[in-house]
Amino acid sequence: MKKELYKKAIAILDANFQEGGFTIPSAGLYPFQWKWDSGFIAIGFAHYDIEKAKTEMRTLLDAQWENGFIPHIVFHTENDSYFPGADFHQSELHPLSSKKYRSTGMTQPPVSGFVLQEMYRIAEDKDDMLHFIKEEIDKVFDNHVYFYKNRDPKDEGLVYIYHNWESGTDNSPVWDDIWKTMNPPEYTFVRKDTTHVDASQRPTKREYDHYLHLIDIAKEHNYDDAKIAELSPFLVQDPLFNAMLIKSNRALIELYELIGGHEDKIATLSQWQLKSIKSFNDKLFDAALGAYVHYDLRNEEPIRHITSSSFSPLFAHIPSEERAQVLVKTMMEKFGGEDKYLCASFDPTDDRFNPRKYWRGPVWINMNWMLFRGLRSNGYTDLAERIKIDSLELIQQYGFYEYFDCRRDTGDKNQTGYGGNNFSWSAALYIDMVNTD
Ligand code: GLC
Repeated sequence: MKKELYKKAIAILDANFQEGGFTIPSAGLYPFQWKWDSGFIAIGFAHYDIEKAKTEMRTLLDAQWENGFIPHIVFHTENDSYFPGADFHQSELHPLSSKKYRSTGMTQPPVSGFVLQEMYRIAEDKDDMLHFIKEEIDKVFDNHVYFYKNRDPKDEGLVYIYHNWESGTDNSPVWDDIWKTMNPPEYTFVRKDTTHVDASQRPTKREYDHYLHLIDIAKEHNYDDAKIAELSPFLVQDPLFNAMLIKSNRALIELYELIGGHEDKIATLSQWQLKSIKSFNDKLFDAALGAYVHYDLRNEEPIRHITSSSFSPLFAHIPSEERAQVLVKTMMEKFGGEDKYLCASFDPTDDRFNPRKYWRGPVWINMNWMLFRGLRSNGYTDLAERIKIDSLELIQQYGFYEYFDCRRDTGDKNQTGYGGNNFSWSAALYIDMVNTD
C-alpha cells in the first residue's frame, strides 16, 4: 500500500509538471505556477528527480521583478479556466515588474530560502547542489531585501501583507473583521473555482468582491509599495508569513556560510534576524490565548483567533522553550482531541470554525509538514509523530487532496478529501515525510 501511494505521489508530480519548467498545483483548479507551492513541490522532486527540483526553483526565481519581488502566481500560459487571471492583475503596471512573465502583483510566504536548504539536505551530490545554490541564492537574498525595505513601514522587523492571498491561508476567518471595515463595490465576474470544486468548500461571492477590490486599490497606484502601505484597508503582520521569512533568513545565513565569503550579507541577515525574532515575540504572542496571533496594522489591533499559523513559529525556532510548551498545550487542548486529526487550520472551539471550508477548519498537508518539522526540532517527537501519522492516514484514506476534514468521523459514509484532487504539494510533502524517520 505504502509503495503504491509513493508511486502515485510521484505520478501526480510528474503529471502536473509542465513544459515551461514549472508544476501546477492541481489540474483545472490551479493551472499556473504558485510561489509557495513551487517551494514545497521542489522538496518532493528533490527525493527522486533533482533536476526537476532545480528547474522548479529556477523558473520561479526567473520570474522575480527588478526590485526583488517574487509574485504569488506566474502566468506562464494563456488559460481562461482561472479567475482572476493575468488581464485582471496587470503586473505590467509596476515599472519594475518582469518583462518576461506576466504575474500577479502580490506575493506569498517566503519559502525559497529554506527550500534551497532542504534541497541541499536531500541531494546526494552535495557539490552539484551547492553549485546550483550559488547560482540562485542572491535572488532569494534580494527578495528578503525587498521585504525589509518595502514591507516594514515602522522598521519593526515584521513585514506586512496587503492581501489575504499573500498569506497563503486565503479564506481564514482571521480576515472576517477586516472585511467588516470595507465596503467594496459589487463586481460582475464569472467565478471559475466553483466549476471545479463544490461551492460549499469555497469563499462566497461577497468575499471575492473584497479580494478584487484590494487588487484594484493596488492597481490604481501601479502596485507602488509605499502607496499600498498608506492606503490598503488590508495591512496585516501575519505570523506564518513572518515565521517563513525568519526560517528562510536562517537558511540563507547557513547556506552563505557553507559557500564561504559573503560576510556582509551574513551580517545583514543576522541583524534582521535578531530584530525580527524579538518583535515577533514581543508583538505577536498573545499570552491569554497561549498562541501567536495576527496583527492588523491598518486598524492597530491584534486579531485574536488561533489558527494553524499560530503554531508555525515553532518551525522557525522563534519561541523560547517555555513558550513552545505553552503553544503545545494550546494545540493539544483546542486542536488535539482524539476525535480529530491534527492539525485543523482554525480553532475548532471558535464559532467561526467550519471543518469543510477552505482554510476555515480543514487540515492542510503543507501546514502539517511545517508543524511536524517544528515540533520535532523542538523536542516534541511524540506529537510530531502523531502529526505525521495523521497526515499519512488522511492521504491513504482519501487520496492526495488539497485539504481534509479534521473530524475523524463526519457521520458521512462517503467522506472524502476536499478541494482539488491530485494536489501537488500533498504529493510532494507526502514523499518528504515518508522519507523522514
Ligand atoms: C489556494 C491556497 C494557496 C495556494 C493555492 C494554489 O489558493 O489557499 O495557499 O497557494 O491555492 O495551490
